[in-house]
Order: sequence, then structure tokens, then C-alpha cells
Amino acid sequence: MEIGLMTIDPPVMLAPMAGVSNRAFRSIARKQGATLCITEMVNANALLHNSAKSYWLMEIDPGETPVGIQIAGSDPDMMAEAARQAAAMGCDLIDINMGCPVAKVVKNGDGSALLNDIPNAVAVVREVVNAVRIPVTVKMRAGWDHQSITAPQLAEAFEKVGAAAVAVHARTRDDQYLRPANWDFIRQVRERVSIPVIGNGDIKTPEDAVRMLELTGAAGVMVGRASFGDPWIFQRITEFVRTGRHMEPPSAEDRAAMARYHVQRMVELKGEGVAIREMRKQLAWYLKGTPGSTVFRSRSSSISTWEDAETLIAEWLDHARNEDLSWI
Ligand SMILES: Cc1cc2nc3c(=O)[nH]c(=O)nc-3n(C[C@H](O)[C@H](O)[C@H](O)COP(=O)(O)O)c2cc1C
Repeated sequence: MEIGLMTIDPPVMLAPMAGVSNRAFRSIARKQGATLCITEMVNANALLHNSAKSYWLMEIDPGETPVGIQIAGSDPDMMAEAARQAAAMGCDLIDINMGCPVAKVVKNGDGSALLNDIPNAVAVVREVVNAVRIPVTVKMRAGWDHQSITAPQLAEAFEKVGAAAVAVHARTRDDQYLRPANWDFIRQVRERVSIPVIGNGDIKTPEDAVRMLELTGAAGVMVGRASFGDPWIFQRITEFVRTGRHMEPPSAEDRAAMARYHVQRMVELKGEGVAIREMRKQLAWYLKGTPGSTVFRSRSSSISTWEDAETLIAEWLDHARNEDLSWI
């Protein structure tokens, strides 16, 4: 898949996810075969008010490429300035958020609210494209609700003003996460544009990825929640798409080592207190798959030190070595 002058091959990507797709998890996903990763969403307004947190969200690791910074906002001039500042961080592309369904975001006209405001959505993309030299992509839901599936029309207009690719999360804002993704929305967008369309929503297995590609003609796939505690999913998808064969699932040792590495990277990035708090949920995602592992998962919600995390992982590993890992 080509995005601007970049080749993304194989086109298996990590979705932007607030609270998840930070530098620690992006480095893990990349090592496990995600060929393009997008940062957590950065609010343009906060960025332009010099919020330290925004800069922190935009930091990328040396050698981390290709990586996109995702910006969110609905004022074209502010988005253009946010894009310039994001590009100065050294990323390879700017991604515009037109999918966030959260009430406090859409009440400002940002995120998926832009799906309802075609002229302004197009103005945002045009100004961002004009502001930076790197490719600009848009990640969008299919529309606001099932009566207004605007993504195909929007994608066509975005292509005209210079967007290099669009990623379609195959749900409406109204769906939130309550309805299953309808991959036909991705096909509808793909039929309207010649830039790459990346399919997203409910890819849980390598078979899902193949089915989505076949049904939609998408140029690539983007995986979000299925990578929680299972960053190997990117490799498994690539292997299955290329050869039709399944890779061996990760062993209990692999999973414990990955969980330890994830904790360590988070501690390096955020300091022990914040890192361990944020890792509670993420650790639970790694410690699953055996009949008795719910105990370990619930214990992870009360860890407070790095040592607690290490002890929990070691005890889970002892337990899992004696059990059949059946999670994949
Ligand atoms: C915890 C979480 C945070 C998310 N944050 C963002 C975000 O910052 N920007 C964005 O465009 N989408 C965000 N999303 C949506 C995902 O990128 C993706 O579109 C969605 O989860 C559907 O893909 P999946 O079924 O593979 O998870 C988020 C999703 C989750 C679960």
C-alpha cells in the first residue's frame, strides 16, 4: 500500500487508541509486525495552548518510523497550525480524527461531529494538507447515524483536496461500540476513491482480516482492540494473508516476557506510579487464557508498584505453564 511516497508493506496497522497506542505499545506492535502505527489523539486546541501533555503524546522514539500523529479539532486554521507542530516532531504522516464519538469532543464540533458538517470537514483536510509536506490521512467513522452515511461522499472530497489515504471504522457515531461493524461501509468508500482505503472495525482474527479485505477491496487493515494483550496479532494476520497458514500462538513464556517488557517500557516513559496504574488494565489483557486466570486478572486491578506487577506476572507464568493456553 502506498501512502504518499511511503510503502506500507504488509499493510497491517495499529489503530490510534487514546490510553493505549503510546510509545511503549507502539514499539511492541511494530516489533510484532504492525507496519504503521498512529499515536493517541492529540487535541489541537490543547496543543496550541502549549499543553505539556499534548507534546508528550506527540513524542516519538528515535527510529520509530513510519508513524503518524493523530490530531483532533474542527477549526481549519487551528488544525493547520497543530499539523505544523505535529510534523515538526518528525512523524511520517498526519492523521485527522473524524471518528471520536465521545460527547465532550463532539459538542465542540470535533471528532465524529465533522461527519455531519461536510464543508467544514473538507476545509479542515484542505488546510492541513496545505500546511505540511508529509501525507495527510483521515480516520473516520461511516457517518453520524444510519440515516446519514456520509463517509463515501466525504472521502471523495478529501481525495480531491489532497488526502493520501482514509481509514474507515465501519460504524456510525450513533453505533458507538454497541452494534457490530458493518464492513460494507468500507466497500462503499472504496468504490468512490482511488487513494488507499484502510479497513477497521472488529478484526479479531487473521480470518477476519482476510474476509474484510475480500469483502471490501480495502488496501490494508487496521487493528485496535484485538491487539490488547496480544500484539502478535499483526504477525498472525500477515502470515495468514500471505500463506494461508496459522502461526504458532505465543507460549506462556512469550506472554509473560511481553507483559514484563510492556511494564518496563511504561515505567521508563511515565514513571512507576502512573505507569503501574495505567498498566493495571493492560496487564489483565496479557494474563488470560487459562481456566484459573480470572484470579490473576482481577488481582491486576490492585497492583501499585513495579514489584507487584513482576510478582503477579511470575505467579501467572507458574500457573499457566501447567495449563492449556486456549485463548487464541
Ligand atoms: C481505548 C480506545 C481508544 C481509542 N482512541 C482513539 C483515538 O484516539 N483516535 C481514533 O481515531 N480512534 C480511537 N479509537 C478507535 C479505534 O482506533 C478503532 O477505530 C476502534 O476500536 C475499532 O477498531 P477495533 O474493532 O479493531 O478495535 C479508540 C478505541 C479504543 C478501544
